[in-house]
Amino acid sequence: MSTSAVAVAGRGGLRFYQTTVGKKAVMAVSGVLLFGFVLVHMAGNLQIYEGPEKLNNYAKLLRSVPALLWGARITLLVMVILHIWSSVQLALLKQSARPVGYVKKETLQASYATRTMYWSGPIVLCFIIYHLLQLTFGAGGTPFQEGDVYSNVVQGFQVIPVSAFYILSMILLGLHLNHGLWSLFQSLGFYHPRYTKRIKGLAAALSALIVAGNISIPISVLAGWVR
Ligand code: HEM
Repeated sequence: MSTSAVAVAGRGGLRFYQTTVGKKAVMAVSGVLLFGFVLVHMAGNLQIYEGPEKLNNYAKLLRSVPALLWGARITLLVMVILHIWSSVQLALLKQSARPVGYVKKETLQASYATRTMYWSGPIVLCFIIYHLLQLTFGAGGTPFQEGDVYSNVVQGFQVIPVSAFYILSMILLGLHLNHGLWSLFQSLGFYHPRYTKRIKGLAAALSALIVAGNISIPISVLAGWVR
């Protein structure tokens, strides 16, 4: 592609982003990629049930190709920034379209679910920041040894407030994913009254799977099943 063709495509992309549909599309695509990460990350973490060697070797494998690891990290970071940026812009747009608000707001189920997104999202972000400090940088106030992922997780979850914070964050993440997936299906045009129930069921089942898989880890550590 020539330089001018790239410039035209870039301007087209920017114009699309400036529309509400464009912002929703950016939220949906970044949301899907983040959801994919959370699902794969959970599957990887569940290897904790197969013992220290298995989990530590898995973590070592992930680090064995630095270009891949950094590619994935940068993609994730860009997706998080785009997701937050488009959500803030959509919220501002909504506010400027209706500065006074509905009188009977609380009766609207959809607006309740949407409002949940605006407080569960920032709490999940706080969770991610603490999670990285704790298990990636070793600065979360729990024992940390570079390369010994298994012990870092087990000793971290033996601290009750840490486990409680994880459990609460996972429940909020579940709420966020549940409504996020449902909105995503709608944004992608999978909306038909006949399928509404099934799509809602699928969104709820996928979110419940993530919550259950992740929460099982601190619970198993606290119960002494994983040590
Ligand atoms: C109980 C649930 C979870 C456990 C046990 C867990 C465990 C871990 C561990 C051990 C690491 C460090 C891996 C390493 O250094 O090799 C890590 C990194 C990470 N986790 Fe989690 N995690 C959990 C949930 C989550 C959730 C729900 C998210 C996102 C919403 C998340 C996002 C991340 C990210 C972004 C990294 C950094 C990856 C990297 O660049 O190295 N984790 N997690």
